[in-house]
Amino acid sequence: MAVIRVIMIGDVVGDPGLEVLEKRLPVLRAEYRPLLVTVNGENAAGGFGLTEESLNRIFAAGADVVTSGNHVWEKREFWPVLESGKAVLRPANYPDRLPGGFSFPANPPESGPAADDSPESGPVSVSGNGPSANSPSEPAALLTVPGRGWLALEKPVSESPAGTIPAGDGSTGKRIPFLVINLQGRKRMTAIDCPFRCFDRILAESAGRDKEAAAENPRVVIVDFHAESTDEKEALGYYLDGRVSVVAGTHTHVQTADERILPGGTAYITDLGMTGAMNGVIGMDAGICINRAKSQIAYRMECARPDSEQDCAVQGVVAEIDGETGRALGIRRINV
Ligand SMILES: [Fe+2]
Repeated sequence: MAVIRVIMIGDVVGDPGLEVLEKRLPVLRAEYRPLLVTVNGENAAGGFGLTEESLNRIFAAGADVVTSGNHVWEKREFWPVLESGKAVLRPANYPDRLPGGFSFPANPPESGPAADDSPESGPVSVSGNGPSANSPSEPAALLTVPGRGWLALEKPVSESPAGTIPAGDGSTGKRIPFLVINLQGRKRMTAIDCPFRCFDRILAESAGRDKEAAAENPRVVIVDFHAESTDEKEALGYYLDGRVSVVAGTHTHVQTADERILPGGTAYITDLGMTGAMNGVIGMDAGICINRAKSQIAYRMECARPDSEQDCAVQGVVAEIDGETGRALGIRRINV
Protein backbone atom coordinates (compact mmCIF):
# COMPACT_ATOMS: atom_id res chain seq x y z
CA MET A 1 0.00 0.00 0.00
CA ALA A 2 1.28 3.43 -0.88
CA VAL A 3 0.75 5.88 1.93
CA ILE A 4 0.84 9.63 1.60
CA ARG A 5 0.73 12.22 4.36
CA VAL A 6 -1.10 15.52 4.51
CA ILE A 7 -0.56 18.18 7.17
CA MET A 8 -3.31 20.70 7.96
CA ILE A 9 -2.47 23.63 10.22
CA GLY A 10 -4.99 25.71 12.20
CA ASP A 11 -5.56 29.47 11.98
CA VAL A 12 -2.34 31.50 12.05
CA VAL A 13 -2.88 34.46 14.40
CA GLY A 14 -0.80 37.59 13.81
CA ASP A 15 2.95 37.96 13.95
CA PRO A 16 3.37 35.46 16.82
CA GLY A 17 1.62 32.91 14.60
CA LEU A 18 3.67 33.72 11.53
CA GLU A 19 6.93 33.60 13.48
CA VAL A 20 6.26 30.25 15.12
CA LEU A 21 5.01 28.82 11.81
CA GLU A 22 8.23 29.92 10.11
CA LYS A 23 10.29 28.18 12.77
CA ARG A 24 8.35 24.95 13.24
CA LEU A 25 6.59 24.09 9.97
CA PRO A 26 9.90 23.30 8.22
CA VAL A 27 10.69 20.93 11.11
CA LEU A 28 7.29 19.26 10.75
CA ARG A 29 7.82 18.93 7.00
CA ALA A 30 11.17 17.25 7.56
CA GLU A 31 9.73 14.92 10.20
CA TYR A 32 6.56 13.79 8.39
CA ARG A 33 7.49 14.36 4.74
CA PRO A 34 3.93 15.34 3.79
CA LEU A 35 2.94 15.50 0.17
CA LEU A 36 0.63 18.41 0.86
CA VAL A 37 0.45 21.08 3.57
CA THR A 38 -2.55 23.37 4.07
CA VAL A 39 -2.46 26.33 6.45
CA ASN A 40 -5.46 28.42 7.46
CA GLY A 41 -4.25 32.01 7.26
CA GLU A 42 -7.39 34.02 7.92
CA ASN A 43 -5.98 35.76 11.02
CA ALA A 44 -2.39 36.13 9.87
CA ALA A 45 -2.36 39.89 9.32
CA GLY A 46 -2.37 41.35 12.84
CA GLY A 47 -5.11 38.91 13.86
CA PHE A 48 -7.58 39.96 11.18
CA GLY A 49 -7.46 38.79 7.59
CA LEU A 50 -4.53 38.44 5.26
CA THR A 51 -2.18 40.72 3.39
CA GLU A 52 -0.06 39.72 0.42
CA GLU A 53 3.02 39.89 2.65
CA SER A 54 1.56 37.59 5.32
CA LEU A 55 0.35 35.20 2.62
CA ASN A 56 3.82 35.03 1.11
CA ARG A 57 5.32 34.35 4.54
CA ILE A 58 2.96 31.38 4.98
CA PHE A 59 3.94 29.98 1.58
CA ALA A 60 7.63 30.51 2.34
CA ALA A 61 7.19 28.64 5.64
CA GLY A 62 6.05 25.57 3.73
CA ALA A 63 2.34 25.78 2.88
CA ASP A 64 1.14 24.45 -0.45
CA VAL A 65 -2.38 25.83 -0.09
CA VAL A 66 -3.62 28.60 2.21
CA THR A 67 -7.24 28.35 3.33
CA SER A 68 -9.26 31.01 5.11
CA GLY A 69 -12.66 31.91 6.53
CA ASN A 70 -14.91 34.78 7.48
CA HIS A 71 -12.01 37.15 8.26
CA VAL A 72 -10.51 36.86 4.79
CA TRP A 73 -12.45 39.98 3.72
CA GLU A 74 -10.97 42.26 6.42
CA LYS A 75 -8.25 43.86 4.27
CA ARG A 76 -9.80 45.23 1.12
CA GLU A 77 -6.39 45.48 -0.54
CA PHE A 78 -6.13 41.71 -0.26
CA TRP A 79 -9.16 41.05 -2.45
CA PRO A 80 -7.22 41.30 -5.74
CA VAL A 81 -4.71 38.78 -4.35
CA LEU A 82 -7.58 36.29 -4.10
CA GLU A 83 -7.92 36.71 -7.86
CA SER A 84 -4.21 36.50 -8.62
CA GLY A 85 -3.93 32.76 -9.23
CA LYS A 86 -2.07 32.03 -6.00
CA ALA A 87 -3.05 28.89 -4.08
CA VAL A 88 -5.17 30.79 -1.56
CA LEU A 89 -8.82 29.96 -0.96
CA ARG A 90 -11.81 31.74 0.53
CA PRO A 91 -14.87 29.74 1.59
CA ALA A 92 -16.59 28.38 -1.52
CA ASN A 93 -20.14 28.89 -0.32
CA TYR A 94 -20.29 32.67 -0.46
CA PRO A 95 -23.29 33.46 -2.63
CA ASP A 96 -21.93 34.16 -6.06
CA ARG A 97 -19.60 32.50 -8.50
CA LEU A 98 -20.06 29.02 -7.20
CA PRO A 99 -19.16 26.05 -9.36
CA GLY A 100 -20.98 26.52 -12.61
CA GLY A 101 -20.97 30.03 -11.27
CA PHE A 102 -22.97 33.11 -11.75
CA SER A 103 -22.93 36.69 -10.64
CA PHE A 104 -25.82 39.01 -10.19
CA PRO A 105 -26.22 42.76 -10.46
CA ALA A 106 -26.05 44.72 -7.22
CA ASN A 107 -28.29 47.22 -8.93
CA PRO A 108 -29.63 45.80 -12.19
CA PRO A 109 -28.87 47.93 -15.22
CA GLU A 110 -31.73 49.69 -17.03
CA SER A 111 -31.39 47.40 -20.00
CA GLY A 112 -29.92 43.99 -20.59
CA PRO A 113 -30.79 40.68 -19.02
CA ALA A 114 -30.83 40.13 -15.31
CA ALA A 115 -28.68 37.24 -14.15
CA ASP A 116 -31.82 35.20 -13.52
CA ASP A 117 -32.64 35.40 -17.21
CA SER A 118 -29.49 33.64 -18.29
CA PRO A 119 -28.10 31.47 -15.54
CA GLU A 120 -26.45 29.18 -18.07
CA SER A 121 -24.40 31.88 -19.66
CA GLY A 122 -21.51 31.41 -17.27
CA PRO A 123 -19.77 33.81 -14.96
CA VAL A 124 -20.46 37.46 -15.50
CA SER A 125 -18.17 39.65 -13.51
CA VAL A 126 -16.57 43.03 -13.39
CA SER A 127 -13.03 42.53 -14.52
CA GLY A 128 -10.53 42.87 -11.71
CA ASN A 129 -13.10 42.75 -8.94
CA GLY A 130 -11.68 46.01 -7.66
CA PRO A 131 -12.97 47.73 -4.59
CA SER A 132 -15.39 49.82 -6.61
CA ALA A 133 -17.04 46.84 -8.25
CA ASN A 134 -19.64 46.42 -5.57
CA SER A 135 -20.34 50.05 -4.91
CA PRO A 136 -24.08 50.76 -4.82
CA SER A 137 -23.28 54.14 -6.34
CA GLU A 138 -22.40 52.41 -9.61
CA PRO A 139 -25.70 51.27 -11.04
CA ALA A 140 -24.23 48.84 -13.55
CA ALA A 141 -21.84 47.24 -11.08
CA LEU A 142 -22.15 43.51 -10.60
CA LEU A 143 -22.02 42.03 -7.14
CA THR A 144 -19.24 39.49 -7.07
CA VAL A 145 -17.23 37.84 -4.33
CA PRO A 146 -13.53 37.68 -5.20
CA GLY A 147 -11.48 34.53 -5.20
CA ARG A 148 -12.17 30.84 -5.37
CA GLY A 149 -13.21 28.25 -2.82
CA TRP A 150 -11.50 25.15 -4.14
CA LEU A 151 -8.62 24.13 -6.30
CA ALA A 152 -7.27 21.00 -7.91
CA LEU A 153 -3.53 20.39 -7.96
CA GLU A 154 -1.12 17.55 -8.52
CA LYS A 155 2.01 16.73 -6.57
CA PRO A 156 4.85 14.71 -8.08
CA VAL A 157 5.95 11.65 -6.12
CA SER A 158 8.93 9.33 -6.16
CA GLU A 159 8.42 5.72 -7.11
CA SER A 160 7.86 3.72 -3.99
CA PRO A 161 6.30 0.27 -4.20
CA ALA A 162 5.34 0.22 -0.54
CA GLY A 163 5.45 2.38 2.51
CA THR A 164 5.20 6.13 2.62
CA ILE A 165 5.60 7.86 -0.71
CA PRO A 166 7.95 10.81 -0.53
CA ALA A 167 7.56 13.88 -2.66
CA GLY A 168 9.40 13.70 -5.95
CA ASP A 169 11.05 16.07 -8.38
CA GLY A 170 8.72 15.11 -11.22
CA SER A 171 11.22 12.79 -12.92
CA THR A 172 9.15 9.63 -12.34
CA GLY A 173 6.11 11.11 -14.06
CA LYS A 174 3.97 9.81 -11.20
CA ARG A 175 1.67 12.36 -9.62
CA ILE A 176 -1.05 12.34 -6.97
CA PRO A 177 -4.05 14.58 -7.73
CA PHE A 178 -5.51 16.61 -4.86
CA LEU A 179 -8.66 18.61 -4.49
CA VAL A 180 -8.64 21.16 -1.65
CA ILE A 181 -11.97 22.70 -0.65
CA ASN A 182 -12.67 25.52 1.79
CA LEU A 183 -16.21 25.79 3.17
CA GLN A 184 -17.78 27.93 5.90
CA GLY A 185 -20.51 27.06 8.38
CA ARG A 186 -23.72 29.00 8.90
CA LYS A 187 -24.68 28.26 12.49
CA ARG A 188 -23.92 31.38 14.60
CA MET A 189 -22.17 32.77 11.52
CA THR A 190 -23.15 34.70 8.40
CA ALA A 191 -26.09 33.11 6.61
CA ILE A 192 -24.26 32.25 3.42
CA ASP A 193 -25.08 29.39 1.03
CA CYS A 194 -25.44 25.81 2.22
CA PRO A 195 -21.99 24.24 2.66
CA PHE A 196 -23.42 20.73 2.20
CA ARG A 197 -24.99 21.46 -1.19
CA CYS A 198 -22.01 23.57 -2.20
CA PHE A 199 -19.73 20.58 -1.62
CA ASP A 200 -21.94 18.40 -3.83
CA ARG A 201 -21.75 20.93 -6.63
CA ILE A 202 -17.96 21.25 -6.34
CA LEU A 203 -17.48 17.50 -6.43
CA ALA A 204 -19.75 17.11 -9.44
CA GLU A 205 -18.05 19.90 -11.34
CA SER A 206 -14.47 18.90 -10.54
CA ALA A 207 -15.13 15.22 -11.29
CA GLY A 208 -16.56 16.13 -14.67
CA ARG A 209 -13.58 18.26 -15.45
CA ASP A 210 -10.93 15.67 -14.61
CA LYS A 211 -12.76 12.44 -15.30
CA GLU A 212 -9.89 10.62 -16.99
CA ALA A 213 -7.30 11.58 -14.40
CA ALA A 214 -9.69 10.66 -11.59
CA ALA A 215 -10.29 7.21 -13.06
CA GLU A 216 -6.58 6.62 -13.35
CA ASN A 217 -5.61 7.80 -9.92
CA PRO A 218 -8.32 8.58 -7.36
CA ARG A 219 -8.12 12.08 -6.08
CA VAL A 220 -7.29 12.91 -2.49
CA VAL A 221 -9.90 15.41 -1.31
CA ILE A 222 -9.10 17.69 1.62
CA VAL A 223 -11.75 19.93 3.24
CA ASP A 224 -11.18 22.88 5.61
CA PHE A 225 -14.58 23.60 7.20
CA HIS A 226 -14.44 27.00 8.87
CA ALA A 227 -17.31 26.93 11.33
CA GLU A 228 -18.38 27.82 14.85
CA SER A 229 -20.78 25.01 15.65
CA THR A 230 -19.42 21.63 16.69
CA ASP A 231 -22.57 19.83 15.58
CA GLU A 232 -22.54 21.49 12.15
CA LYS A 233 -18.92 20.40 11.78
CA GLU A 234 -19.62 16.81 12.79
CA ALA A 235 -22.68 16.70 10.53
CA LEU A 236 -20.57 17.79 7.55
CA GLY A 237 -17.94 15.23 8.52
CA TYR A 238 -20.48 12.43 8.35
CA TYR A 239 -22.04 13.89 5.20
CA LEU A 240 -18.66 13.73 3.45
CA ASP A 241 -17.59 10.43 5.02
CA GLY A 242 -16.34 8.08 2.33
CA ARG A 243 -16.28 10.84 -0.28
CA VAL A 244 -13.23 12.76 0.92
CA SER A 245 -9.95 11.94 2.65
CA VAL A 246 -9.94 14.56 5.42
CA VAL A 247 -12.47 16.98 6.93
CA ALA A 248 -10.85 19.38 9.40
CA GLY A 249 -12.67 22.15 11.21
CA THR A 250 -11.16 25.58 11.77
CA HIS A 251 -12.31 28.91 13.26
CA THR A 252 -12.63 28.32 17.02
CA HIS A 253 -8.85 28.36 17.59
CA VAL A 254 -9.28 25.67 20.26
CA GLN A 255 -7.94 22.28 19.25
CA THR A 256 -10.40 19.46 19.85
CA ALA A 257 -9.46 15.94 20.96
CA ASP A 258 -11.94 14.08 18.75
CA GLU A 259 -9.74 13.18 15.79
CA ARG A 260 -10.81 9.86 14.30
CA ILE A 261 -11.47 7.88 11.16
CA LEU A 262 -15.18 7.89 10.36
CA PRO A 263 -16.84 4.61 9.28
CA GLY A 264 -16.54 5.36 5.56
CA GLY A 265 -12.81 6.10 5.74
CA THR A 266 -12.65 9.87 6.16
CA ALA A 267 -10.26 11.39 8.70
CA TYR A 268 -12.03 13.95 10.87
CA ILE A 269 -11.33 16.54 13.58
CA THR A 270 -13.75 19.22 14.79
CA ASP A 271 -11.06 21.90 15.09
CA LEU A 272 -7.38 22.01 14.21
CA GLY A 273 -6.67 24.66 16.83
CA MET A 274 -4.52 27.70 16.14
CA THR A 275 -0.98 28.79 15.44
CA GLY A 276 0.25 31.66 17.56
CA ALA A 277 0.52 32.87 21.14
CA MET A 278 -1.13 30.49 23.59
CA ASN A 279 -0.91 32.92 26.55
CA GLY A 280 -4.08 34.71 25.56
CA VAL A 281 -7.69 34.20 24.51
CA ILE A 282 -7.84 32.42 21.14
CA GLY A 283 -4.54 34.11 20.31
CA MET A 284 -5.67 37.60 21.34
CA ASP A 285 -4.78 39.79 24.33
CA ALA A 286 -6.49 38.37 27.42
CA GLY A 287 -6.99 41.75 29.12
CA ILE A 288 -8.84 43.18 26.15
CA CYS A 289 -10.98 40.06 25.88
CA ILE A 290 -11.87 40.29 29.60
CA ASN A 291 -12.84 43.95 29.14
CA ARG A 292 -15.00 43.06 26.16
CA ALA A 293 -16.73 40.31 28.11
CA LYS A 294 -17.33 42.42 31.23
CA SER A 295 -18.36 45.66 29.51
CA GLN A 296 -19.99 44.24 26.40
CA ILE A 297 -18.15 46.96 24.48
CA ALA A 298 -16.40 45.74 21.36
CA TYR A 299 -12.91 47.00 22.16
CA ARG A 300 -10.58 46.41 19.24
CA MET A 301 -8.82 43.12 19.80
CA GLU A 302 -5.05 42.85 19.64
CA CYS A 303 -2.86 39.79 19.41
CA ALA A 304 -1.54 38.32 22.63
CA ARG A 305 2.14 39.05 23.23
CA PRO A 306 4.17 35.96 24.00
CA ASP A 307 6.85 36.36 26.65
CA SER A 308 8.98 33.82 24.87
CA GLU A 309 8.82 31.34 22.01
CA GLN A 310 7.65 28.76 24.53
CA ASP A 311 4.32 30.60 24.76
CA CYS A 312 3.62 29.85 21.09
CA ALA A 313 2.42 26.73 19.31
CA VAL A 314 1.65 25.31 15.92
CA GLN A 315 -1.49 23.18 16.00
CA GLY A 316 -3.09 20.98 13.39
CA VAL A 317 -3.14 17.38 12.24
CA VAL A 318 -1.16 14.98 10.13
CA ALA A 319 -3.26 12.46 8.23
CA GLU A 320 -2.11 9.29 6.53
CA ILE A 321 -3.99 8.42 3.36
CA ASP A 322 -3.95 5.50 0.96
CA GLY A 323 -2.68 7.25 -2.16
CA GLU A 324 -4.45 4.76 -4.41
CA THR A 325 -7.95 4.90 -2.93
CA GLY A 326 -7.99 8.23 -1.10
CA ARG A 327 -9.14 6.50 2.09
CA ALA A 328 -7.70 7.85 5.32
CA LEU A 329 -5.63 5.41 7.35
CA GLY A 330 -4.81 7.54 10.36
CA ILE A 331 -4.97 11.01 11.86
CA ARG A 332 -3.07 12.47 14.75
CA ARG A 333 -2.93 15.88 16.35
CA ILE A 334 0.02 18.24 16.02
CA ASN A 335 0.66 20.61 18.92
CA VAL A 336 4.26 21.78 18.91
FE1 LIG B 1 -9.74 32.25 12.69
